Amino acid sequence: MADLLVLGIETTCDETSAAVVSRSEQGAGEIRSNVIRTQVEIHAPYGGVVPEIAARAHVELIDHIVAEAMAQAQVGFKDLSGVAAAAGPGLIGGVIVGLTTGKAIALAAKKPLIAVNHLEAHALTARLTDQVAFPYLLLLVSGGHTQLLCVEELGRYTRLGTTLDDAVGEAFDKVAKMLSLPYPGGPQVEVQASLGNATRFAFPRPLHGRREPDFSLSGLKTAVRMEADKLAPLSDEDVADLCASFQAAVVEVIEDRVRAGVRAFRERVGRGPSSIVVAGGVAANSAIRERLGVVAAEMHTRLALPPPGLCTDNGAMIAWAGAERLARGLTDPLDVSPRARWPLDAAAAAPGARA
Ligand code: KG4
Ligand code: ZN
Repeated sequence: MADLLVLGIETTCDETSAAVVSRSEQGAGEIRSNVIRTQVEIHAPYGGVVPEIAARAHVELIDHIVAEAMAQAQVGFKDLSGVAAAAGPGLIGGVIVGLTTGKAIALAAKKPLIAVNHLEAHALTARLTDQVAFPYLLLLVSGGHTQLLCVEELGRYTRLGTTLDDAVGEAFDKVAKMLSLPYPGGPQVEVQASLGNATRFAFPRPLHGRREPDFSLSGLKTAVRMEADKLAPLSDEDVADLCASFQAAVVEVIEDRVRAGVRAFRERVGRGPSSIVVAGGVAANSAIRERLGVVAAEMHTRLALPPPGLCTDNGAMIAWAGAERLARGLTDPLDVSPRARWPLDAAAAAPGARA
């Protein structure tokens, strides 16, 4: 089998992206192009992603983004081995735009279609960037998802733990909103945290010490709100101290929950993970990145952290997941349906399953 060359399309949320990625027979990946257009500015006035506006923006952008990705990679549709598109989970209007585009190109160019699960793409990115071997522990932390997964093999994902309420990124965004920081909130909270005193407020560490590697964030978020209400009107120093104390609590929660995740992984697989892999937008947070490095060393495993640009939504991860599936002969019919919900671990539904 020669190298595979796959076009990947991502439109499940507020990033319109297309990329061309190659995969060698040995499983080495190379990003030939990765064009990402974020809609952050379009949604900023609303303080969050507006699904209808996102879908319309995807429609307007997607053809240009695909053309740009193909041009940057210096390939034509005839050179592709397959066309991959994220088929969910996500905002259904956007998913339809990307999947339909992928189907049209696959049909016209007579190439196989790979309908990719967006979460699986996050899960497999570390195999593109770090050639991580199965089985590994995945911490997926984004605005919509907070899960610990055992990645045993391609297509074999077992959810070890999930959030019982808010996702970690959602908690960052809500804290930012209550402190009147601009959208998107996560990066703003991190900046404020670096200026503040992390010991001023003793916020709770929900589920600390609990054996099951689940998460809970809403009590922590409420504690921040109550403190902010008490202090109002807030000074700059108050905002920075609230952010620093909140982030310190999140870092400790993640540390404790990942330890529980490694233990649950060992019980399930009979050995430790080859790596702890982190994916999702929250993985861009440097305090979290730093602490996870320490945890991995203490748990006798390594940390695989894709660069921040590949932790957030992007077409390269879709193309790569498509290539991994194509290498195993896994393709999809042209009438495959888009899915708003599509959990990686079909056996694990509630509680708090947001996929
Ligand atoms: O994976 P992503 O780009 O989109 C999805 O949610 O699918 O993740 C975005 C989330 C947002 O909640 C954002 O606030 C959070 O990741 N985030 C951060 C940071 N950068 C992005 N949270 C904390 N610290 C950051 N530096
Ligand atoms: Zn995502």
